[in-house]
This record gives sequence, C-alpha cells and structure tokens, in this order.
Amino acid sequence: MPFLQVQELKKAFPATGGAVTVFDNINFSIERGEFVCIIGHSGCGKTTILNVLAGLDMATSGVAVMDGREIAGPSLERGVVFQGHALMPWLSVMKNIAFAVKSRWPDWDRDRIKTHCQRFIDLVGLTGAEAKKPSELSGGMKQRVGIARAFAIEPKMLLLDEPFGALDALTRGTIQDELLRIVQATHQTVFMITHDVDEAILLADKILLMSNGPNALIAEIVDNTLPRNRTRHDMHHDPQYYRVRNYLVDFLVTRSKLFQSGGTANPAQPLVVRPGLDGALPALPPGGANQGDPQHLTANHQSPSHNN
Ligand SMILES: Nc1ncnc2c1ncn2[C@@H]1O[C@H](COP(=O)(O)OP(=O)(O)OP(=O)(O)O)[C@@H](O)[C@H]1O
Ligand SMILES: [Mg+2]
Repeated sequence: MPFLQVQELKKAFPATGGAVTVFDNINFSIERGEFVCIIGHSGCGKTTILNVLAGLDMATSGVAVMDGREIAGPSLERGVVFQGHALMPWLSVMKNIAFAVKSRWPDWDRDRIKTHCQRFIDLVGLTGAEAKKPSELSGGMKQRVGIARAFAIEPKMLLLDEPFGALDALTRGTIQDELLRIVQATHQTVFMITHDVDEAILLADKILLMSNGPNALIAEIVDNTLPRNRTRHDMHHDPQYYRVRNYLVDFLVTRSKLFQSGGTANPAQPLVVRPGLDGALPALPPGGANQGDPQHLTANHQSPSHNN
C-alpha cells in the first residue's frame, strides 16, 4: 500500500441551479518520501484536493488514506502551507510558530520550543522579525512564516499550496533550494500545488496534470526523469529538461481543456508519461490533431510557448 492513496475522490459544491462537480474520480498515490506536484488551471480544484488531504474539507465521495488510516480531520501529522498564509494576527512570528510546535510536542519546555522555532525562522530568512505581528509583515514574509510553521512540526506529510507564490525570485530560489535540501535529508513526503512548471521540475518526482474544471480529473502523471541531484543552476543544461518542460507547458496551454468530457484519459488509472523517453509515442501531428489523446503526443516536439 502506498503512503498516501487517493481513491475515487469527488467534490461537488452546492450552487444556484444545482450542485457543481468540481472534480470526480480523482485517483493517485504518493510513496513515502516522494515529492509530488500538481499543476492545473485556476479553479480546477487543486486547493480543494489539498484541503481534503489536510482533513479540513470533506470529499463528497471517495477516500484518502495516509499511512494506513483514512484522513477524517486535521492532524499534526500533516503540515499545511496555505495559499493565503492563515496566520494568527494577534500573535508574533515566534508565537505563531511556537503555537504549532507546542501542540505537536506538549511536553517540551519553553527553551526547547524557542530554539526549535528559531531554527526554522532562520531557515526562511526571518531572523530579526521574531517579535513582529503579521500586520507588520509583507506578503512574502507572511508566507515564509507559514512555511516555517509547517516545517517546524516535522509532519509525516507536507501539503503546500503555492507556498512560494508571493516571494520575489531571489527569496523563492533560496527557499526552493532549502526545501530541496530538507526533503533530500529527511525524505519528507510532499504534496505541492504550483503554477510554476520550473519549480515543479526542480522539486517533484512526479507531476500530476489536472484538467480544467468542472468535472476535472487527473489526466496524466509525468514521471520526472531528470537526475535527482538536479539543481536550479544546472538543470537547464540537460536537454531532457526542455522535453519535460515543453510537455507541461503544452498541457497547460492546450491539452488541459481537452480532457473536459473525459477524453481518452483513464482517470481510474492515469497514464504515466516520460516525455522524451517514451520513444514509442508518435510525433505530434502538425496543427495538434488528436491532442486529447496522449498516445499521439510526444514531448519531443517543440512547443511554440516553451520559451515563455
Ligand atoms: N466553499 C466553496 N463553495 C462553493 N464553491 C467552491 C468553494 N470552494 C471552492 N469552490 C469552487 O471550486 C472550484 C475549485 O476551487 P479551488 O480553490 O480548489 O481551485 P484551485 O485549483 O485551487 O484554483 P487556484 O489555482 O486559483 O488556487 C472553483 O470553481 C471554486 O469556485
Ligand atoms: Mg488554489
């Protein structure tokens, strides 16, 4: 049994004129120590899936099982970084993090909690801002407090909802490197939402491609075939990087909408693709005919938008 198993997950929200099914029949798994990213257009239901995995929202049907137990509510076994930072506005940076750490290890004394929190505050570059309240912080700083808080409880699984969205490129790069280092050192299991295909290629072992909603599904799973010791500084020297990148960009630009009616995808067992390495796949015909059919795609073709 994989560490996390998601089976036949469906979410419908009540709406005027009847319920809207955001996604249906979502199936995927995450192995222990695996880093999985999900990409898809705004509104397709990524955050809703993450909320179900966090235990903060209930699926309409289907199950998510982590480490042998069905996820039925929030738990300190899962650390969440929210798309909005979700800090307690009346608490300082240190206290926002300490609150979570105290809940996780109730028998720790004050000094131990403080030292532990400080390590993660330093890690995200907030040294000196310990006493500040969220209202005194920039958007990126608030996001970094959220990241420090999630890391500090050393959860079995990290759930990250666009955690670097509000950061400038420099800070983003530094924290991505740090996340990569922590994940490699601790074999942390991670589920992360991102809009940034380069971030997904840098961090993920596999990338779930989610089609547009409503009735969104996991259309395909891209196996990241770049060597695991890749870095932000060298991965673009590898020709394989462009094949994976083109494939992801193509999905977002063109193919994500073609799965709307189900297409040829098999949501019960999404196709696993290895762009550029699945030599058996024929080249994409000119004009992109049959783009909804993954068997007609290879990431070897040049995406018009790959330089975006
Ligand atoms: N509480 C709710 N009630 C009704 N509809 C909701 C609710 N929460 C989310 N939705 C709808 O569900 C869909 C998916 O929302 P979700 O936040 O999961 O999208 P997302 O993929 O995370 O988008 P983004 O990339 O913009 O963050 C949207 O169409 C949204 O309007
Ligand atoms: Mg979202």
